[in-house]
Amino acid sequence: MEYQFILVENNYRKHIALVQLNRPKELNALNLQLMLELKDALEKLDKNEEVRCIVITGNEQAFAAGADIKQMESRTAIDLLKIDQFETWDQIRKTKKPVIAAVSGFALGGGCELAMTCDMIVASESAKFGQPEIKIGIMPGAGGTQRLTRAVGKALAMEMVLTGKFISAEEAKNAGLINRVVPEELYLEEAMKLAAEVCQMSPISIRLAKESVLKAFDAGLQEGLYFERKNFYMCFTSEDQKEGMKAFVEKRKPDFKGN
Ligand code: HXC
Repeated sequence: MEYQFILVENNYRKHIALVQLNRPKELNALNLQLMLELKDALEKLDKNEEVRCIVITGNEQAFAAGADIKQMESRTAIDLLKIDQFETWDQIRKTKKPVIAAVSGFALGGGCELAMTCDMIVASESAKFGQPEIKIGIMPGAGGTQRLTRAVGKALAMEMVLTGKFISAEEAKNAGLINRVVPEELYLEEAMKLAAEVCQMSPISIRLAKESVLKAFDAGLQEGLYFERKNFYMCFTSEDQKEGMKAFVEKRKPDFKGN
């Protein structure tokens, strides 16, 4: 698949792939083609054994200013049902490798939802997060009401969703929506650093651990605990577990192979 609206830098530094949303004139508004390309890229990177962590970014001005309003303007509910764009979003959410969003500028509507679909968010001081759909007569549709509420709690989520107010990176950090805030010139580098840290771990335990943390969002406590336990046992079938523990005992750095 030829990409028109994203750029993919494979093996950017060691084991990290970088995907850049690239519709700068439209503030990276997420049209259907861009989302299909993103899904395609993530599927390929997820299968690529060289890649251990994926970073998604935009540019200084915008991570993404939402779904493409111009593309949606004349759609009917039945059009949307037939297009079934959320299948693409569901596929993106199923990426097994850790995905980090490196956010600068606007992360609004679908842009905020895309960042929240990622596993961690590193933001520049200029980042603005919001769910302004209410201002254009709709409401969040790609998980905003659910993920935002789980991340920041009811009070702030209600305010953001019902008034469309933006919050700054600092507010987002304080509310628990994002991991780190750094000066604008450093946000991508910081996201890469975080990715590099994750890449040093065993890819197998990373995969099982990510899956287990995500389970906390869609399972009751007992089911989540059983799921975690199963994945914990599964780690002990890997060579990386033997290597990791052996390296600890021998006081050296482990060499994780992903087996
Ligand atoms: C289509 C968009 C866009 C969007 C910006 N643009 N956001 N086009 N869809 N979501 C385009 C503008 O039309 C304009 O194109 C160019 O990008 C620059 O934007 P300006 O508005 O001129 O920039 P600025 O004055 O700096 O304002 C920035 C902004 C504003 C505050 C981010 O653009 C804005 O409010 N955008 C919409 C944000 C929004 O409502 N997002 C939610 C969308 S609904 P031209 O050609 O005029 O220069 C959604 C639902 C998701 O996301 C559901 C799941 C799929």
